[in-house]
Amino acid sequence: MSESLGLSANHLIEMECAESLVLICHYYPPCPEPDLTFGTTKHSDNDFITVLLQDNLGGLQVQHKNQWVDVPPIPGALVVNIGDLFQLVSNDKFKSVEHRVLASKVGPRISVASFFGRDSGPSSKVYAPIKELLSEDDPPKYRPTTAKEYSEFFRAKGLDGTSALLHFRL
Ligand code: OGA
Ligand code: NI
Repeated sequence: MSESLGLSANHLIEMECAESLVLICHYYPPCPEPDLTFGTTKHSDNDFITVLLQDNLGGLQVQHKNQWVDVPPIPGALVVNIGDLFQLVSNDKFKSVEHRVLASKVGPRISVASFFGRDSGPSSKVYAPIKELLSEDDPPKYRPTTAKEYSEFFRAKGLDGTSALLHFRL
């Protein structure tokens, strides 16, 4: 990912983008009326990247060109999502993915999400658009923040369908 931005191979690691790992296991009970609710409502993740393992029931969807697209489970495969902080430091070169989980009568559904660079990271570390990616034609689109500040705002806002990134946009 560093190299795809034209940076040295270890640039993102040296920026401490993968310094912390938060592992969250989700348990979605079967839902008697899945048309009335969601497993998880639309959101993007408040980290750099998320590595997700979902079980064989499916239900994960990503938003692509204003359409919801199924991410079918593939045995042994992991889903890798770009998170908001990666969008911020890449100055929109990478976009965090909006995703959701449908509710289902069949269940329980189980998933395991590994969040790299979420709230428990070194809290004083400031993240900002990477200088090497900026120019006169490409000025910073976001103000600097810390993973702690970002996730506190993210959590206070809740999964209301809007992106927390907008709050940090210049
Ligand atoms: C999340 C998430 C998806 C899933 O934890 O942020 O999007 O399949 N999980 O549980
Ligand atoms: Ni998510």
